[in-house]
Amino acid sequence: MEPLRWIDPPDGPAVALLDQTRLPNEEVTLLCEDVPALVAAIKSLAVRGAPLLGIAGGYGVALAAALGLDVDAAAGELANARPTAVNLGWAARRVQEAHREGRDALTEAHAIAAEEASASARMGEHGLTLVPENARVLTHCNAGALAAGGEGTALAVVAAAHRAGRLKHLWVDETRPLLQGARLTAYEARRHGMPYAVLPDNAAGSLFAAGEVDLVVVGADRIAADHSVANKVGTYPLAVLAHHHGVPFVVVAPTSTIDPEARTGADIPIEQRDPDEVTTIAGRRMAPEGSRAYNPAFDVTPGHLVTAIVTEQGVITRENGGNLGLPGGTRL
Ligand code: MRU
Repeated sequence: MEPLRWIDPPDGPAVALLDQTRLPNEEVTLLCEDVPALVAAIKSLAVRGAPLLGIAGGYGVALAAALGLDVDAAAGELANARPTAVNLGWAARRVQEAHREGRDALTEAHAIAAEEASASARMGEHGLTLVPENARVLTHCNAGALAAGGEGTALAVVAAAHRAGRLKHLWVDETRPLLQGARLTAYEARRHGMPYAVLPDNAAGSLFAAGEVDLVVVGADRIAADHSVANKVGTYPLAVLAHHHGVPFVVVAPTSTIDPEARTGADIPIEQRDPDEVTTIAGRRMAPEGSRAYNPAFDVTPGHLVTAIVTEQGVITRENGGNLGLPGGTRL
């Protein structure tokens, strides 16, 4: 599965995306031949997931360079396309910087993609150490190959557990309103041959109460120095449930998702999306005409609810006294 691919001339330069808005029913390639097309694809979630947004942002700047456009303007537009996933601006600025220094922008974008793929593999290995035998794992949103380089973040850990024979069952939160769990994680779980079931987000409480969850594993869009974690809206209530029921709550993210500028969760900007995503389903109005809606794309889970953070560098826990290595950062 290739969610994003760089196309060289003569067919390019272009960025080819697997259009995630059409999955799982249709596998359609979206060809972005200019920066506005890629920015639109990012905003519509045709390409999404923090590490993959970083890869897309990097290639977007390389595309601007290849087309002889204003690279600084392109980097700014790409970085601002979605505000919460820190990887997007980080990667766009990294390739912009390379170009400014006279280095090849495309080589830098390829390097980011390769680093993220290798980080996925490392996160899978490190995260596996936290998965018990016969684990019933709950995940939220999509943090798999469709969201990152390689096998993903949280789903890379689940895939490693599946290969090691430790995964008894994967619970997939449907992830309202845009259904990244039901549409994308279930699509990936099926391809992996994992035993899985999709549940409505509001069924998670009864699942915990029934003792059916051994571990929660999620990704992240931005992590602050106090270990607050921004991830898909609905993650925070899961962390509260996990805490209440004594279930470990594990966050898996590459170091590119750690924001050196964010001291606490309050420093993380939360994307607010179109109310229509809540008031309509598949284009059909569900709430009365004129209804307002609250539609934050992400929420912030405070560090004290996080059992461990897995990065490509290892596992941070309260027991090992780990920290994120940021100035002013605390221990988990
Ligand atoms: O709005 P999305 O679909 O881009 O949100 C994605 C998530 O919240 C993921 O959990 C997060 O980016 C981690 S992905 C490896």
